[in-house]
Amino acid sequence: MKRTLRFKILIAIIVIMLSTLVAILVSAGQSPEPLTGNWVVRNPNADGTFRTTYLNLKQEGMRITGSIRVTQFFYHISESTGGPDGFTITGSMMDGKSERKVQYEGKLVGGELHLSTRRRPQDNPIQMVAVRAPAGEGALPARNPLPALHKVPDNGLARTPPMGWNSWNKFASRVDDPTVRSIADAMASNGMKDAGYLYINIDDTWEAGRDAQGNIQTNKKFPDMKALADYVHSKGLKLGIYSSPGPNTCAGYEGSYGHEAQDAHTYAAWGIDYLKYDWCGARTLYTDEEMPALYQLMGDALLKTKRPIVYSLCQYGRLDVWKWGADAGGNLWRTTGDIRDAWDSMSRIGFGQNDLAPWARPGHWNDPDMLEIGNGSMSETEYQTHMSLWAILAAPLLAGNDLRSMKPEINAILTNRDVIAVDQDKLGKQGQRIWKSGDQEIWSRPLSGDAMAIAFFNRAADPATISVKLADLKLTGKWKARDLWIHQNVQLTEPEYSATVAGHGVVMLRLSH
Ligand code: GLA
Repeated sequence: MKRTLRFKILIAIIVIMLSTLVAILVSAGQSPEPLTGNWVVRNPNADGTFRTTYLNLKQEGMRITGSIRVTQFFYHISESTGGPDGFTITGSMMDGKSERKVQYEGKLVGGELHLSTRRRPQDNPIQMVAVRAPAGEGALPARNPLPALHKVPDNGLARTPPMGWNSWNKFASRVDDPTVRSIADAMASNGMKDAGYLYINIDDTWEAGRDAQGNIQTNKKFPDMKALADYVHSKGLKLGIYSSPGPNTCAGYEGSYGHEAQDAHTYAAWGIDYLKYDWCGARTLYTDEEMPALYQLMGDALLKTKRPIVYSLCQYGRLDVWKWGADAGGNLWRTTGDIRDAWDSMSRIGFGQNDLAPWARPGHWNDPDMLEIGNGSMSETEYQTHMSLWAILAAPLLAGNDLRSMKPEINAILTNRDVIAVDQDKLGKQGQRIWKSGDQEIWSRPLSGDAMAIAFFNRAADPATISVKLADLKLTGKWKARDLWIHQNVQLTEPEYSATVAGHGVVMLRLSH
């Protein structure tokens, strides 16, 4: 009996041990594989914020799925090879109608992911280290429902195209409070303010996160936005700011998503006079077709603050924004992708605006992007063409150079009052091409008082004489003509007028009776 008992106990112990072993083996099989989890790369920006990349990975054997979020872009992993000792993952996302892709190579080293990626295939790889992040951090927020469309009442602003300065073209992420103050000082004293320039616009990278109540915070570069606005106002100028309808801006900073009314209220409390609202991060949550509702949301919010705030739509001309931008409350809307300080970029954008003329009107302007005048990669002749073309187009004149250190020749281009008067003409009609032969083009713009601006452009690199019969331009009759770059009256000879125009240059006239 005693022996049988001992035997039974032994059997029981063996059964318990075996089942424990099986349980351990089963649970080991279920435990996450090493790459599974939420990973983050945090690259510090100089302003106390971070440029983040999140990799939310699920490893199943040699298959990796999940998502990659790089600043404003949110990719789904569509392909993978390898495992913890060395893997490649490809993420893809739709951006409007085109597909964007990213690819990372990586391996697990200790508890970290060592990663490398290339911006473009021909670039050198960028190395980075990801560490584990709490689950859910960096996840894309849920989509908020969109308001029904309605017409946002006109805010009564921007009866002529806005004039001012914007930080992006020259300073990008290096813009800060002292820079903005010194630019305001320069604009107030170098003749620009007297010539009509008014807005000092801070572009992307001023933002930090939000406080516990959800209020947007400024980062280290902008210690006190209200004090900065007070300073800019004390110079007789106005202050502009930048945000996005998405969770993130283009540079990956905090956007206004889900905080539209709160942010509009904050801007008004700070004394902001102008908002550029940049689509960027919104593309991860919404389609292009949903843009009008998102822009309307902020248009309504700005109006509700009761502060006059110019509303600038920046979504690169998608979805024919000129057809609905005004209904969303917009005073101006970008019509193209970003301009660069290069003849090709500027001329392609500027000469490509012809068909949009019917949509511009007082309070609502086509915006072919900010000026590059004075940034150094075009000649003075080309910058004159830039200024003339933007004036013919009734485009916003937002200087994009360092106003504190520009040469007198650049100042003279930016403050050419004759050309500015064309841009600011109160009739508010955008000009159009009236004649073209090869690289030579003539554009005209109707002006108030039965006058008109006419510009002879030479897009070729060598000088050219543009000879044209006034009858072909429907310009017969008596006209007084003034050359707006040499500031002299000229004779509009009949029946044919000839202008000798420098390579990439312009001759611009104001005609009146
Ligand atoms: C986009 C805009 C630019 C600028 C940057 C800032 O590219 O088109 O004008 O605002 O974002 O990140």
